[in-house]
Amino acid sequence: MLSRTVSRLVVVSNRVTPISGSRAATAGGLAVGILAALRETGGIWFGWSGEQSEAAAPRAKVSRGGNITYITIDLSARAFESYYGGFANRTLWPLFHYRLDLSSFDREWYVSYRQVNQLFAEQLYPYLRDDDLVWLHDYHLIPMGEELRRLGVKCRIGFFLHIPFPSTEVYVALPWHDQLVQAMCAYDLLGFQTSNDLRNFHDYLYREGLGYALADGLIHAFGITLRAQEFPIGIDADDFAAMATSAEAVRASQRLSRSLIGRRLIIGVDRLDYTKGITERLRAYEALLQNYPRQRGQVTFVQISAPSREDVPEYLELRGQVEATSGRINGLFSEFDWTPLRYLNRGFTRRTLAGFFRLSRIGLVTPLRDGMNLVAKEYVAAQSDEDPGVLVLSRFAGAADDLDGAVIVNPYDIEAVAEAMHFGLTMPLDERQDRWRRLFAQVQQHDVAHWRRNFVKALAESGQPRS
Ligand code: F6P
Repeated sequence: MLSRTVSRLVVVSNRVTPISGSRAATAGGLAVGILAALRETGGIWFGWSGEQSEAAAPRAKVSRGGNITYITIDLSARAFESYYGGFANRTLWPLFHYRLDLSSFDREWYVSYRQVNQLFAEQLYPYLRDDDLVWLHDYHLIPMGEELRRLGVKCRIGFFLHIPFPSTEVYVALPWHDQLVQAMCAYDLLGFQTSNDLRNFHDYLYREGLGYALADGLIHAFGITLRAQEFPIGIDADDFAAMATSAEAVRASQRLSRSLIGRRLIIGVDRLDYTKGITERLRAYEALLQNYPRQRGQVTFVQISAPSREDVPEYLELRGQVEATSGRINGLFSEFDWTPLRYLNRGFTRRTLAGFFRLSRIGLVTPLRDGMNLVAKEYVAAQSDEDPGVLVLSRFAGAADDLDGAVIVNPYDIEAVAEAMHFGLTMPLDERQDRWRRLFAQVQQHDVAHWRRNFVKALAESGQPRS
């Protein structure tokens, strides 16, 4: 509950995605988290419709679903290319995930990014009331709060970064690093996924001489004092657990189970993104079959990689790599009656995935870098107490901070990931149960309602609406 009067919640994210159908698998943690949070309180969800149009001034479309009002705008083809395909996904995304080698810096993209943030602010402005709590999400919208302030918006505005905030040495490669951090300091509240991200942010302010951390979650920068804290995002654990035993999940898992003919299932589910470590994971599976020949014919690895950001060249390249690696593994190890790997380049509903998770012995969540990774939490929530699977989790996922019952791995260490898989495949039932109970308690305790409540409460308490 909010501490004072209950304000209306206005959520803004680049993409507005009611979770349904096959888009669910590509939606990512942000959409899952926002929808779960908004369903609890009701409110507005504002953002890009996912469509392109060439209208001179975009017209907001308003629709209602349950207690949520969706307000969306289209983007022009130019904005789609330079703001979304360019600055957001070829500059900030790779940079914040420590992929300087894949980061491109283009002044025009940056200008377009600022313009789209201004446009978002102008389009949202008429819908806002002074006592609203406005909660902006993710790297696409860093400067939007500053734009809202320029327009004279007085309500409290918070920002949550779903992806990592990188270390200073990496972040300062961005030619506009100081402008973006200055924009971040226009918020009343800044939220990060982990203590590591928050530490990196503090470190940047200090090392660049722009500000410093105070006590009690406050920072002082650019002459302003604001709150900056960690708020690790969670899932609706009970809801996902229920999904895993729903009719749709059971049907899907029975079908998959029949096709396995008693073999153990190893599963990986991600957007097809170079941050997810999919090629490395496939190579680790190859090492498992190489180093532990007894596992040949005993396991099946299902890797589900839903297509994502297909207009961005680096994603196309990754697709080629993953296809080549999968083909090589099947070429090397297949028998006439056993195919070691099934690679599916498509999305599935969350219910179907929940059923697959519950059936599997190992869940591989091995990103090279990830803000949180909610698939890890969903994998845990989907398991049964009688026969739970083992979560093999990258130390570079934010989720690793919380999930100490997982088998934690370095995803770059291919042999070690293969060993971790073998460890999971041979782990006795009582150890699996013991680890899973600890994991499930963590996932339940730090669920999405906990995340939403903590953030909204901190936002409601951070300063006053401005007069
Ligand atoms: O979770 C990170 C994120 O970039 C979200 O902001 C986004 O909604 C999701 O991944 C899916 O990416 P996209 O909107 O580019 O398809």
